Amino acid sequence: MTSQEIRTKFLEFFKSKSHLIVPSAPMVTKDDPTLMFVNSGMAPFKEYFLGNSEPKSNRIADTQKCLRVSGKHNDLEEVGYDTYHHTLFEMLGNWSFGDYFKKEAIAWAWELLTEVYGIDKDILYVTVFEGSDDADNLPMDQEAYDLWKAIIPEDRILMGNKNDNFWEMGDQGPCGPCSEIHVDIRSEEEKAKVDGKDLVNMDHPQVVEIWNLVFMQYNRKADKSLENLPNKHIDTGMGFERLCMVLQGVKSNYDTDVFTPLIREIEAITNKDYGNDEKVDVAIRVIADHVRAVAFSIADGQLPSSTTRGYVIRRILRRAVRYGFTFLDKKDPFIYRLVDILTKKMGKAFPELKTQKQLIENVIKEEEQSFLRKLDQGLILLNRIIENASSKEISGAKVFELKDTYGFPEDLTELILREQGYTYNKAQFDQKLKEQQGRGREASELISDDWTVLIEDEEQEFIGYDSLEAEVKIVRYRKVTTKKDGEMYQLVFNLTPFYAEGGGQVGDKGYLQDVNGDVVYILDTKKENNVIIHFTKNLPENLEDRFQAVVDEKQRFRTECNHTATHLLHQALREVLGTHVEQKGSAVHSKHLRFDFSHFSKLTTEELRDVEDFVNARIDGKLPLEEKRSVPKDQAIADGAISLFGEKYGDTVRTIRFGQSIELCGGTHVNNTGDIWHFKIVSEGAVAAGIRRIEAITYDAVKDFYFENNRAYFEIRDLLKTKDPLKAIEKLKDENLTLKSQLSRMENELLRHCVNFYSNRFEHIDGVMFLAQKISSTYNMLKLKDIAYRLGEVSSNTFVVVANQNNGKVQIACFVSKYIVENNNLNAGKIIKELSSLIGGNGGGHATYAMASGKNPDGIDEALDQAKAYI
Ligand code: ALA
Repeated sequence: MTSQEIRTKFLEFFKSKSHLIVPSAPMVTKDDPTLMFVNSGMAPFKEYFLGNSEPKSNRIADTQKCLRVSGKHNDLEEVGYDTYHHTLFEMLGNWSFGDYFKKEAIAWAWELLTEVYGIDKDILYVTVFEGSDDADNLPMDQEAYDLWKAIIPEDRILMGNKNDNFWEMGDQGPCGPCSEIHVDIRSEEEKAKVDGKDLVNMDHPQVVEIWNLVFMQYNRKADKSLENLPNKHIDTGMGFERLCMVLQGVKSNYDTDVFTPLIREIEAITNKDYGNDEKVDVAIRVIADHVRAVAFSIADGQLPSSTTRGYVIRRILRRAVRYGFTFLDKKDPFIYRLVDILTKKMGKAFPELKTQKQLIENVIKEEEQSFLRKLDQGLILLNRIIENASSKEISGAKVFELKDTYGFPEDLTELILREQGYTYNKAQFDQKLKEQQGRGREASELISDDWTVLIEDEEQEFIGYDSLEAEVKIVRYRKVTTKKDGEMYQLVFNLTPFYAEGGGQVGDKGYLQDVNGDVVYILDTKKENNVIIHFTKNLPENLEDRFQAVVDEKQRFRTECNHTATHLLHQALREVLGTHVEQKGSAVHSKHLRFDFSHFSKLTTEELRDVEDFVNARIDGKLPLEEKRSVPKDQAIADGAISLFGEKYGDTVRTIRFGQSIELCGGTHVNNTGDIWHFKIVSEGAVAAGIRRIEAITYDAVKDFYFENNRAYFEIRDLLKTKDPLKAIEKLKDENLTLKSQLSRMENELLRHCVNFYSNRFEHIDGVMFLAQKISSTYNMLKLKDIAYRLGEVSSNTFVVVANQNNGKVQIACFVSKYIVENNNLNAGKIIKELSSLIGGNGGGHATYAMASGKNPDGIDEALDQAKAYI
């Protein structure tokens, strides 16, 4: 069976058991502060488990792209070293939301594995939760045990501890005991030696878990206690790549057709063979794995960058580059070349790869290039550290600095040091790393209390498309603490006019007023697992009162101007540059908007002007908002509405139309484009390879912008004392050029005189032409170097030291002819290092030329005297 067939069979099986089959959700999570990426099949369904919204069906199945590279489930550092962990993997899953429970979940799992896929029953083991005598004091899962006993011999049912057999999605939330299914694919010979059941959960590469059946029956509260869930659910997750390994009769996930095409391609590009040398194999596995994670992330809209999610993706890609660099001798970009074969193999199941192939390639290539440049720089720095080392052990702080500041990885440093007979202080390095990680964690850590529920089972309604004010009740609230914002309260209302941050648009601000007129300010609004949460610094006094909730109208309106302008900008870019333009991110604030999009070159002045004109023409055209709230998604797309990659849409969508601009959008907009008054682009630049960014302003921000510019214009006129500043600046520029070239000619002339003058002052000592000279002119270091070289080259056995002062700095340059270096054992680099201490500075260079700069002019004479002592 090909992997494609295996995937299809899974989905068909659960379809036959009345499950709704849904596509994989995007990997990048949008409204879950506890999770950066989807890390298991159930993550996109959290809102159903938490009871925040209703699923379309109470039986669902899918294959979900998962990324386990951060937080509670992080496998990154293991990937490559074993044959069954991955950064990105597919999790096949079936769910019951308050519908069937253990009996069906167990029976169907068994039926699918043994009858549909035909896996030999004798290679399967199952585990059951044994209970715990810790604070949770949980009983053994007798029900699951009895269900398994009816279909599998008892000696194949193993008891598992809380670590392996109690699944929790995070620190809080639904959880429960689980039953795992493991396979033993070892040879008969090996099986005869060690019983398979002794290897379950022992990290054996051929005795592995393939499917986890979770029986969600508890909710973990913030105070760590467990409560029973009113409805019981099923959450299962099967590792697709591991299943392929079993069904394709191979011993490693990397030998399945999910990975072999990538591995063959890596072999071809790098001229290395997979399967001969463990180090090479690890590197090939790392790269085959990581390119998938990075390509899928970019397709889902998450580009590598230096912050949060983007940084995680960058680290994965850099790990791949590093293994290629170190173990496959690849010093130039090549990982991007794997995207082609990846797309050919997986583009059918995941069409987002196909449509964005070129962008993915470009982004990966540029990231590779820039990291390889960093590696080169790091190598130079590391060599310098080695050259200057006073012992065979390098300080851990230096190795940490290389990693932290230059991105030069610790293991590569270690390898290079070892090759040259050096070690480093690992304890010191780890300490620095710990300090840094501690700093990062504290900054983001969120501590939250349990919700205090004031009104049970109250549905929440968003009315903010139609009104900015409403009478509301507080349904629940809790205190949260973060390092950044300190203590805050989160409030949920029964209905709310407040728009929660989403789709790039900021959350509303405003206030809550009680019957006495007392006010609590709402500082931000966000969504968490589909619930709208209002942030306040204080709690209102009488929480059970009714309140008037009022949105800050001005901020909302300015934000709306920017949001509508963002749609028009999107349309303009597709019109002016072409339909290859796709939105790659947007930030709609009250003061400005930012729009990232795919396009391969810098926009010309004309293009920018055309884009601005296009948008302003639609503003002048006073186009009315046409909003539709519940359009079937396919219908909306057929009508020409633009949807975004990486967004999760429901079956019905909201469409926003202004003239010919139609987008699927949940944001808020002006009633008429005329409200925007004017649109102005303030910057255009690159964000990553093939991704450009435009920043723009609208409405009264444009007035401020023009006033500000106008004032500057008049100040320039006054300064230049002219009515035509453009012409005056042209003239100044020309004059400046002429003066610069005159100055340079005169300096060269002076330099020649200087060299002529001092070349008569050489002393002949023991066959060496020696000159130690203070120069009175304030030449910069480059010119001083020029003088040292010109004087040095008067014969083939010179030793020259020249010094001067420039801009408050003392500079020394030293030249030693090659002949002298070789025969008289003089070394400019060493000499300069010693002389530099006399001028209170430091320096370095090579054996024939070196220079130093310092702060102490009183040391010049002594340094020049000392120079003579070397002969
Ligand atoms: N949510 C369960 C897991 O990820 C199925 O293992």
